[in-house]
Amino acid sequence: MRRVYFDNNATTPLLPEVFAAMEAIYREHFGNASSIHHHGQETRAAVERARESVAVLLGCRPAEVVFTSGGTEADNFALFGLARSGQHVISSSIEHHAVMNACEHLKTRGCEVTFVPVDGNGQVDPQDVRRALRPNTKLISIMMANNETGVLQPVEEIGKLAAEADVYFHTDAVQAVGKVAVDVNKIGCDLLSLSSHKIHGPQGVGALYVRKGTILQPMMYGGRHERSRRAGTENVPGIVGLGRAAELARNGLGNSEMARLAGLRDRLEKTLLAAVDATRVNGRNAPRVPNTSSICFDSIEGEALVIALDLKGLAVSTGAACSSGAIEPSHVLTAMGLSPDQARASLRFSLGKQNTAEDVDFALDLVPQTVARLRELSPVYNRSH
Ligand SMILES: Cc1ncc(COP(=O)(O)O)c(C=O)c1O
Repeated sequence: MRRVYFDNNATTPLLPEVFAAMEAIYREHFGNASSIHHHGQETRAAVERARESVAVLLGCRPAEVVFTSGGTEADNFALFGLARSGQHVISSSIEHHAVMNACEHLKTRGCEVTFVPVDGNGQVDPQDVRRALRPNTKLISIMMANNETGVLQPVEEIGKLAAEADVYFHTDAVQAVGKVAVDVNKIGCDLLSLSSHKIHGPQGVGALYVRKGTILQPMMYGGRHERSRRAGTENVPGIVGLGRAAELARNGLGNSEMARLAGLRDRLEKTLLAAVDATRVNGRNAPRVPNTSSICFDSIEGEALVIALDLKGLAVSTGAACSSGAIEPSHVLTAMGLSPDQARASLRFSLGKQNTAEDVDFALDLVPQTVARLRELSPVYNRSH
C-alpha cells in the first residue's frame, strides 16, 4: 500500500546524510568525549563540530549551545533554570505541554504564572505581554511557531519589550527551526529551545541556546559536562546527527526548499477548501511556517478521520491529546476561540522535505471522499446541511 506521511510536526524521517554521520560515530568513534586519550579527543572534536553547526544555524556562539535530550528538556531547563519562588513568569495559552506543564509545576514551587491569550488567528498580542509585566517578572516564555497551527508569534517585538523591561526571554523554537530563519540576536531572546527530530535529525536530542552571561540552575548534578550546565556523558551519535541535520536545515533555508513546501501546502489547502464544504483553515490570516496546515472539517470527529485516512495510507494527526480514553479538545484551538467540537473536528497536515507533488495529489484524492463518507454518518451534519 502506498503510504504518505504528512505528520512532520510530530517527527521527521532521518535524512540519509544524518544517518551516515551517526553511523561513523557508532562504528568508528566510540570514545567518551571526556576522555583525554585519542578516542576521547576524536569524539570531543565531533561534539564541538556539531555545536558549531547548531550555532551557525542560530546565529550564536558555539559556547552558548547546550545539548539536551530534546525540546522538552530544553524547555524545562530554561524555565526551571531561571524561575524561583516568589517570581513571576509570563507564558501563553498556546504553548506546547513542555512549557505549559512546566509552568504549572512552577506554580507548585511558589512562582506566579500568567498565560496571555491569543486572538482568533492564534497570535499573541505583544501588548498583552507588556501589560502582564510585574515588578517581580523574571521570565517571558513564548513560542516562536505553534506546533498545531504553524502560526508564527511576534517574537521580535516580545524580545524588544523583554529587553526594555530587563526580563529574560525564552522562546520554544522547536517548530520554527529549519522552517524559517531563526537568529537569536534578531529575536532578542536569552534562551531558545530546539529539537533534532523536527529537523530530520535523530529523536532524543536537542539543544538550548543560553545567551552568554545567563546563569541557569542545572537540572542534573554530576560531572562537569556542557560547562557544568548539563551533567551526564554526552549522547554523541545523537549530537553529531543533530549537527548534520542543522547544516542541512540551514542549506534548506538558503535554497528554494521552503518555497517549494509552501507551494505544496498552499495547493493542498486551497484545493481541499474548494472540494469540501464547511471547512476552514485555523490561523489562516496569520503568518505561518511553510509546512503546516490545520483544517477544521465541520461535524467530523477528527480522531475517526485520522484513523480512516491511515487505513488508506495517509498519516496526519489531530491537535488533540488523547488521555485516559477521553479525547480532550486541543487547548491551542480552543484558546483561538474554536468550540470543543470544532477543535475535535480539526486535522493537522504537516509536510516535510521528503514530500512531493504526488503526495499532495494522493491526499487530495483521499481526504474529500473520506470526509464525505464520515459526514454521511453524522446526524449533526445531516441536520444542518
Ligand atoms: C513546540 C514544541 N515544543 C517542544 C516539543 C518537545 O520536543 P521533544 O519531542 O524533542 O521533547 C515539541 C514536540 O512536539 C514541540 O512541537
